[in-house]
Amino acid sequence: MIEFQLNGEPVSVDVPADTPLLWIIREHFQLTGSKFGCGMGLCGACTMHVDGIASRTCILPVVAVAGKSVTTIEGLGDAEQLHPVQEAWLEHNVPQCGYCQPGQIMSASALLATNPKPSDSEIEAAMSGNICRCGTYPRIRKAIKSVAA
Ligand code: FES
Repeated sequence: MIEFQLNGEPVSVDVPADTPLLWIIREHFQLTGSKFGCGMGLCGACTMHVDGIASRTCILPVVAVAGKSVTTIEGLGDAEQLHPVQEAWLEHNVPQCGYCQPGQIMSASALLATNPKPSDSEIEAAMSGNICRCGTYPRIRKAIKSVAA
């Protein structure tokens, strides 16, 4: 049995230890906001926070989060109080197709939690692993900067 916190609630799963966390979150807990893109840790669509750190969960075995705190896009804000990064995404109409955006938001929010006023190069470095086929990068940068302002 593997136990961890999921969006603030204690949970446990009885699954093979090497099952990718993304599978557990999407299939077992039916939280489908986090997406499967490449499955190789290269695109960022599956990004969640593990103890506050942006993590690629398609390549993260569930056993690696035992005793840790996992936050998904569903747990970042709620219907009554969106996270400031989610508010900024709405304000700047960031998404196009939307597929990569949960991962983008999770990376951006992890950055701003540790570095509330990131420089352009720090934003670039933190977001470089999140790929967007629609090319929404300028709006992503704008939204991050509006939260940091
Ligand atoms: Fe995990 Fe692409 S699906 S990084």
